[in-house]
Amino acid sequence: MNKMDSVIYTYDRSQFYRYLDVLKVEGKKILSISKFMQNTEDDLFNFDTDEVIIDISAAITYNDVLHFEHLFYKFSEDTIFIIDNKQLEKLSYGLRNCFDKEKNINEILKEDIEIKKSDTVVKKKRKLIIDLNTEEIESFIGNFNNKLYGHEKFKEDFASKIREFMIFNKLGEHKILSLFLMGDSGVGKTEVARVIHKCLNSQNKLAKINFGNYSSQDALNSLIGSPRGYIGSDGGELFNRVDDSDIGLILIDEFEKSNNAVFNYFLDVLENGKLVNSLAEEIDVNGFIIVFTSNISKDDFPRRISPELRSRFNYKGIFNELKKEDKLKFAHFRINDIIGKYEKAYDIKLSANLHNDLIRIINVNSFKNMRDLNAEINNNFVKFITQ
Ligand SMILES: Nc1ncnc2c1ncn2[C@@H]1O[C@H](COP(=O)(O)OP(=O)(O)O)[C@@H](O)[C@H]1O
Ligand SMILES: [Mg+2]
Repeated sequence: MNKMDSVIYTYDRSQFYRYLDVLKVEGKKILSISKFMQNTEDDLFNFDTDEVIIDISAAITYNDVLHFEHLFYKFSEDTIFIIDNKQLEKLSYGLRNCFDKEKNINEILKEDIEIKKSDTVVKKKRKLIIDLNTEEIESFIGNFNNKLYGHEKFKEDFASKIREFMIFNKLGEHKILSLFLMGDSGVGKTEVARVIHKCLNSQNKLAKINFGNYSSQDALNSLIGSPRGYIGSDGGELFNRVDDSDIGLILIDEFEKSNNAVFNYFLDVLENGKLVNSLAEEIDVNGFIIVFTSNISKDDFPRRISPELRSRFNYKGIFNELKKEDKLKFAHFRINDIIGKYEKAYDIKLSANLHNDLIRIINVNSFKNMRDLNAEINNNFVKFITQ
């Protein structure tokens, strides 16, 4: 391959999936350079350059670039190379021996992809608990306490932790308010984050990760992306979700199912107030609330979570079964909710007695888990309206 006239095409990361779509229509796909860096078989380089485009963004370190320079000459002359424009800024010196021109990826696409202003990385303004004024904080706390049933002791502690956080965050001493909630299933641990999300009036999705959904091996990748190997700037699921979010809140569900690498990662996040992904991008999470939930028991807590990390959590608490009156509250709320939704969806009026009839036959005390109670309510509701 000759360096003369060789071009590197730059793309904007936020549009990566749109480029993929357009290229797909043209029968082309993008391969990551990491594939070639890990595998030295010459056969790999015998691809059809009309169909395959090489993304070199994954060459992130100086050594990678040296390695790439070496590989570069193995590619056929008409190979098309692309790179994330942010990466090129960092790597341009290292790549000077390979490319002498830089062009926009649009030059090789049949369809121009414009970069909308809102797509480019601008520092987003998120609604943070620390930005609320005294009145708003009290109203937030009141709202929160109404929406989460029971757990009175937790509510008291949470309110005072928030007030404390407001002050010490301002003094630069406390970056993130972290809660670690343990205990029984279906009593409202995850609900805590959902309620905060509602009370901060978020219009976007809750930024969350559930380690129950990943193998422990993939745990860190799910947060911040794999360091290389995936094409197209895989920044990690949690990272992307936080980036999309309009409020300062993160939910880490079933935390105990992650692994040491993740524990260490969060130790860093809590300490520095920064979320960093595998592409070395950062999100400032100063002023955030992070809710960690876990099904481990109180006894397992010290066994599973290191002392360093344990001492980092601002609140550690056990969520126990709800009291009867709180379960009843939940049942009333759910029944109202379903009846309302049903009447709206079918545009009919259900019997005025339905609510009380349902409450009467459901024995809230036989349920520890509100999910099971909810299923019982649904079940009986269906029976009533179909009888
Ligand atoms: N204390 C509570 N207040 C309000 N809703 C609750 C409470 N506990 C449970 N729920 C309801 O039950 C469902 C399951 O609760 P969840 O918080 O997901 O359980 P877990 O403690 O296992 O995380 C929630 O979607 C919510 O509707
Ligand atoms: Mg949960």
